[in-house]
Formats: sequence, structure tokens, C-alpha cells
Amino acid sequence: MKAILLAGGQGTRLRPLTLQTPKPVVPIFDRPFLQYQIDRLRALPEVDEVVLSLNYQPERIEAVFGDGSASGVRLRYVVEPRPLGTGGAIKFAAGDTRGEPILVFNGDVFTSVDLAALLRLHRERRARATIVLTPVENPAAYGLVETEPDGRVRAFVEKPSPDAIRCNTINAGIYVLEPETLDRIPADTVFSIERGYFPSLIADREPFIAHVSDGYWIDIGTPAKYRQAHADIMDGRFVAAPFAGRAGQSVIAADATIDPTAAVEAPCFIGAGARVAAGARIGAYSVVGAGCRIGERAAIAGAILWPGTTVGADARIGASLAGHDCRFDAAVEVGVDRVFGDGSIVTEYSRA
Ligand code: GDD
Ligand code: MG
Repeated sequence: MKAILLAGGQGTRLRPLTLQTPKPVVPIFDRPFLQYQIDRLRALPEVDEVVLSLNYQPERIEAVFGDGSASGVRLRYVVEPRPLGTGGAIKFAAGDTRGEPILVFNGDVFTSVDLAALLRLHRERRARATIVLTPVENPAAYGLVETEPDGRVRAFVEKPSPDAIRCNTINAGIYVLEPETLDRIPADTVFSIERGYFPSLIADREPFIAHVSDGYWIDIGTPAKYRQAHADIMDGRFVAAPFAGRAGQSVIAADATIDPTAAVEAPCFIGAGARVAAGARIGAYSVVGAGCRIGERAAIAGAILWPGTTVGADARIGASLAGHDCRFDAAVEVGVDRVFGDGSIVTEYSRA
């Protein structure tokens, strides 16, 4: 079975972090985001090929995953000539696949949904398409999906207006599709699976089945959700590397150097080759990427620092995000919810 990972979006809501690092490879602790999805797909015996549907900075994504041999899976890259939207991209990546269903994943979701159960349901119900749903508090930013008591999908409304919200189940961004149904998507045309294909399945009364998952689910596409995903893994709300079996603890790379007078509060993560100087404090929920340097008496209070970032003496960094190789000089004070692009420089005593 072919699995398609939709990973061609521009990641605009995560800018400036995604200017040099496309969303599929933004680091989650010390691994690229898509690695988690690839690992899950590899564990499914039915999946023999993973197709990455790319558009934005494809060469940067290929450089990270190569041919997949390091992940133990056959990886293929498909780059659309121009962004074709979610439906157009699926059609383009599926090519002339026939016969067996295709598994599709939005390339920015973390989920514990049981994929084997999803495939079973799709077969048992002889569905033409099966979609995973997840309950959320506010469906406005997602695709709202209403179902019948027998599990068929009754309505699909992408980014619903407040008066259209009549339930709390949304599209989790995971589908099983019979390839023949992609005939309703025009070739080489911008086409949304959410606004075009799903509504047309409903209008034609095709067997379109929902699989409601009550497990963990998050879309990492905004700074707040990106930080939330890290906290959830650290707390064990979502069981994933490198905190699987170590929830609530501090995960510190073997070759990180931490001065004995520095304070490290659990849970947190300190990556390979990082150095934490005397009197510094790494607060709970902080992520200090590989090769970061934290100066004397500096305090990291829940920030996520990508690899290569330097924090000077007496600086204080709140729960913010910093890209690769940033420089926060001595005595800088950074508040919460700030986002710094790669190579940002904040000079001494500045407040940001
Ligand atoms: N190849 C390719 N080409 N991929 C694309 C394109 C494109 O033109 N446009 C978007 N994608 C990819 C994105 O990289 C992402 O992985 C996925 O398709 C979904 O796009 P987003 O831009 O993240 O959409 P969203 O988060 O606003 O909404 C989607 O996801 C929600 C769940 O997170 C929709 O599918 C909603 O219905 C859903 O609830
Ligand atoms: Mg998204």
C-alpha cells in the first residue's frame, strides 16, 4: 500500500522559523517532525512505499531523509510543478495507482490513532473513503465533519463560520482513499480535498465513513501548538521519542556538558554537545538544541532553542522560540511567545 504524506505547504503560520526550515523538517527535540510519521507508517505491514508530496523547498526535505534507507522504508519524493492544493497534490502523487487503497496523512499532525484499526474499518465498511476525526474545543480553524449514527459522513465544512458549528469533531488530516475516487479531482489543477472532493463524495452518496479517534491529536502548524506538542511529549500525554518511557524527566544527551552549579528542572531536553555554564538555570519545558551554549547565570524559562543558539551571561529567555544559530547576548531579556528566525541577534541588555 502506498502512503502519501502531504508536506508541500509553506508553513506560513510558523514563519520566520519555516523560512529556512520547511515545516515537515522543523525539529521536535532532536528529530525532524516527519520522522515521527515515517516511523509510524513503517510499523504498518501493509505500507510498502511512502511518497512525500512536496512543493516548498523540496531539496531541503530530501536532504534530510534521503532514500529512506536510514528509516528502513522506501521513500519517494514527488514535487508538483506548482502548488496544487491538498486534492491536486494527492492526485499528482497517487499517479496511476489502482486496486488498493491509499493512506494519506497531512504532514503536520501528531496522533496516536490506531492506523491498523482505521484500515480494518475501511475494508469492513467497503468504504470509498474513510476519514479520521478528532474532537477539539474550537473547530473553527479546521475541517468540521458531521456524521450519521451509522458512522457515515453527513457534512464536511472547511474552516466553518461560527454559526455553522454544530458538533466538535474535525478532520484529523488522515484518510484512506480508494484510488478510483480520485477521478473526481481534475488533473494538474489547484483543487482542495476539503472543499471539493469530500463534499462531492457526500453529494454523490458514496460510502464515506468516519473513524472517530479519542487518542492524542495535534496540528503543529502554529507557534503555540508547536510548543504544546513538545510539552505533551515531555509530560507523556503523547508517548513519543525521546521521552517515551521517560515522561516527566530531563532528557540530556550523553555528550552535553552541564556545569555542576547549573540547575536543570524536569521535564526538559538538552541536546548533543550543548554546554550549560555555571549558575545557569534550564527551567521546566525548556528545549536546548544540539550545540547550544548557555552562559553563566543565564535562565531559560521554557524556551525552545534550535541547534547552534548562544545565550550570553545573565540573559533570561522566556517561553519563546528561537531558530538555528541565534545569538542572545549578555543580560538580554526575552519575554514569552516571541519567535526569532535563524541567525537572529539580540544585543546585550536588549529586551524583546
Ligand atoms: N504538496 C502539497 N501541495 N501539500 C500541500 C499543499 C499543496 O499545494 N497545500 C497544503 N499542503 C499540505 C501542508 O503541508 C499540510 O501538511 C497539509 O497539506 C494540510 O495543509 P495545512 O495548510 O496545514 O491545512 P490546515 O491545517 O489549515 O487544514 C487542514 O488540516 C486540518 C487538520 O490539521 C485541513 O485538512 C483541515 O480540514 C484539517 O482539519
Ligand atoms: Mg495544518
